[in-house]
Amino acid sequence: MSMIDHIIQVTNEYIAHMPKSMRKKYGQFFTSKETAVFMAGLFEIPNTAEISALDPGAGSGILSEALVERLQTNKIIKTINLVCYENDPNILELLKENLEWVKQQSCQEVNYTIVTENYILSQMAEYNGMLFANPNPVNYDIVIGNPPYMKISKDAPEVSVMQDVCYGAPNLYFLFAAMSLFNLKDQGEMVYIIPRSWTSGAYFKQFRQKFLTEGAVEHIHLFVGRDKVFEKESVLQETIIIKVKKSQKKPENITITTTQSNADFSEKTTFLAPYSTVISGDDLYVYLVTSPGEVDTLAKVNQWDNTLPSIGLRMKTGLTVDFRNREALRDADEEKAVPLFFSQHIQNGKVVFPAGREHEYIVTDQKGLLQNNTNYLFVKRFTAKEEHRRLQCGVYIARKYPRYQMISTQNKINFICGMRELSDCIVYGLYVLFNSTLYDSYYRILNGSTQVNSTEINAMPVPPMSIIESMGKALIQTRDMSEASCDNILRSYV
Ligand SMILES: C[S@@+](CC[C@H](N)C(=O)[O-])C[C@H]1O[C@@H](n2cnc3c(N)ncnc32)[C@H](O)[C@@H]1O
Repeated sequence: MSMIDHIIQVTNEYIAHMPKSMRKKYGQFFTSKETAVFMAGLFEIPNTAEISALDPGAGSGILSEALVERLQTNKIIKTINLVCYENDPNILELLKENLEWVKQQSCQEVNYTIVTENYILSQMAEYNGMLFANPNPVNYDIVIGNPPYMKISKDAPEVSVMQDVCYGAPNLYFLFAAMSLFNLKDQGEMVYIIPRSWTSGAYFKQFRQKFLTEGAVEHIHLFVGRDKVFEKESVLQETIIIKVKKSQKKPENITITTTQSNADFSEKTTFLAPYSTVISGDDLYVYLVTSPGEVDTLAKVNQWDNTLPSIGLRMKTGLTVDFRNREALRDADEEKAVPLFFSQHIQNGKVVFPAGREHEYIVTDQKGLLQNNTNYLFVKRFTAKEEHRRLQCGVYIARKYPRYQMISTQNKINFICGMRELSDCIVYGLYVLFNSTLYDSYYRILNGSTQVNSTEINAMPVPPMSIIESMGKALIQTRDMSEASCDNILRSYV
């Protein structure tokens, strides 16, 4: 039996007798054989006789094993100094047995150390450059990792160690990633399999700023078949593999590969995407493009310098949480009632009211639940995964509802409003943009989830107001609200 098959077999035996609840406490789940081999294959191995490697959160040692096997193909390397951090006492014995087995099987000299301390807490002094820190901490040539996925509270001790990358309640996985970059030698490389959530959003901004300034992303692997990663362990969080070099200098391109699953890497697609297209903007978002077509989408949208707020517009979340205001809801119109718009009122680009659904009116004096009856673009907040579009919107024209001074919106829709009242042309122009294939693809690249988040929309590039108005005029003339019609209009502006 090959080295890796042996490790997989004993890991499966471990999984079989160790309850999931016990493993969950440590954010423990295991890398598949194919993924481990693929990850180990990504390194550019330095041509030295001795190499130092780190596996933080080593579990049963699958990644370490795959790495040793990969290093065997390099005849110059004579000695591998491997450090594995692992703090779950239940798995330590298995890890030790496996590393011993790898040592015995390997044709190179393998010196391994298991550190049973907490990977983050034990490096507090070094990471923060404290007085009593080890002046010569070990730095590694390579790090291979599958970090624990676990939310921790903002008061957790790990947060106090890594204040510089934390905002709010963080997740252990990106603290591990930042620590691993810290542990690398200059020009050293790390390959990590991690959730994709850090690539956008405000919560991870501080992490991105540090990680992407001190490190250069050289390779991103994406699983494009849905929910396939860690299938056995049913971890639904979408995962990616990254290779990052510790270097301030960024490459011209990032290599991007994709496969359908984590069980078969033979049919992978490969292409190059410009670094500055994939990682861009003040917030250093990482755009996870899966094809050259998507690179083109990014380049087109990113040529615009404005955002909704910079041109006096803003997307907001609907004002009324209906189930918290039950007493104010009405099924039919009555004196003092005003329309309450739900996503069901957004139909084929228009806002259709009444729609005959329950609770579509509200009677309230609470200012926070009401908004002026002016023009808006309504955008659904939630769509189903199988639906064709993430961005689904409807034009709301106030003068169709002259009876009402105020209206309300349920919090499951978003709306775009302006500092001043939006003209019909502006609302229709926004519709052209939000209903186009280009913008929907852009949003999908930005955000893996099905929820349309106003913070993200407000950070997306938009064309200047004059173009939005012209596009609106064109749409009003054609009277065709379809996606094809919007694409057609937008095409003459990008
Ligand atoms: C997602 S598992 C990955 C295991 C293994 N590397 C693999 O790829 O199959 C993460 C591992 O990190 C360990 N771990 C969690 N928190 C840790 C910490 N603070 N310090 C060291 N290890 C930790 C867990 O016990 C678990 O074995």
